Amino acid sequence: MDHLQTQGLSLPRLGLGTFRMQGDVCRSAVESALALGYRHIDTAEMYGNEDAIGAAIAASRIARGNLHVTTKVWNENLAPDAIRRALNASLKKLKLDCVDLYLVHWPAKNMDLPAMFETLLKLKEEGRTRAIGVANFNLALLKTVVEEIKAPIACNQIEYHVMLDQTKVAKYLAAKSIPLVAYCPLAQGRAASDQTLAAIGRKHNASAAQVALKWLIDQDGVAAIPKASRAESQKANLDALKLSLDDADRKAIAALPKNQRCVNPGFAPAWD
Ligand SMILES: NC(=O)c1ccc[n+]([C@@H]2O[C@H](COP(=O)([O-])OP(=O)(O)OC[C@H]3O[C@@H](n4cnc5c(N)ncnc54)[C@H](OP(=O)(O)O)[C@@H]3O)[C@@H](O)[C@H]2O)c1
Repeated sequence: MDHLQTQGLSLPRLGLGTFRMQGDVCRSAVESALALGYRHIDTAEMYGNEDAIGAAIAASRIARGNLHVTTKVWNENLAPDAIRRALNASLKKLKLDCVDLYLVHWPAKNMDLPAMFETLLKLKEEGRTRAIGVANFNLALLKTVVEEIKAPIACNQIEYHVMLDQTKVAKYLAAKSIPLVAYCPLAQGRAASDQTLAAIGRKHNASAAQVALKWLIDQDGVAAIPKASRAESQKANLDALKLSLDDADRKAIAALPKNQRCVNPGFAPAWD
């Protein structure tokens, strides 16, 4: 598995997303993914599945140092005391002493960025998380965090896939050597039935979903966290790493409409 180096982490470029999986479904999906070789699991306090993931990790007996776990603090818990309580609760459910990456899940309108990052850095110093980062931060917010607060963020996790342009944020992250972790990398499954991607896949004996994932992973500094509950899809997504796309494939993908945003709640910041 290829890795990205960031803020002391070695982040596997393909991880398992776990949104909308809970209880036994989530536990068995994570167990199956770990058995197949996934070593990067993405969760969040908001997903309500950290306990199931903790159980799967414990059952796997994978050495802690060989596994990357990301979780996130929800945007109602961004006051210093609330962040601390949220991370403690996440760690308890995950049955871990520390996570690898702790992200601010969504910006909040009234958030106090300096106080937030001071707390996150304290939690890092205390060994409760190995690194900190953000998700859903637009260009303006990213610039504040990187250039004014100078917080050592290990990634920005944002929606990114073949049907959504993220050039501005991606260019900024690349210039600062900060990885982009692509969520909804399959456009919530829509990429799997796209005819252009299916045609490219036929050329390479691969599926449309595999083409969509490899297009992301081929980009410098990009990781992807597809969610897959079925073992066959989990394996197919891992196998996507072996695919070789050519210039004609990339040209056809570049011509797809790039305005298909899957996630856009009302409290999101304006996207640049
Ligand atoms: N930071 C944030 O605000 C944020 C927001 C959204 C998501 N995320 C993270 O990103 C992860 C991924 O996003 P997502 O779950 O919304 O969407 P996604 O990964 O783009 O798509 C998931 C869908 O694709 C299907 N699928 C997976 N592999 C497939 C394959 N090889 N062939 C055909 N279909 C396939 C899944 O089916 P099955 O499940 O039935 O197998 C599921 O229906 C989330 O789970 C979460 O961890 C983060």
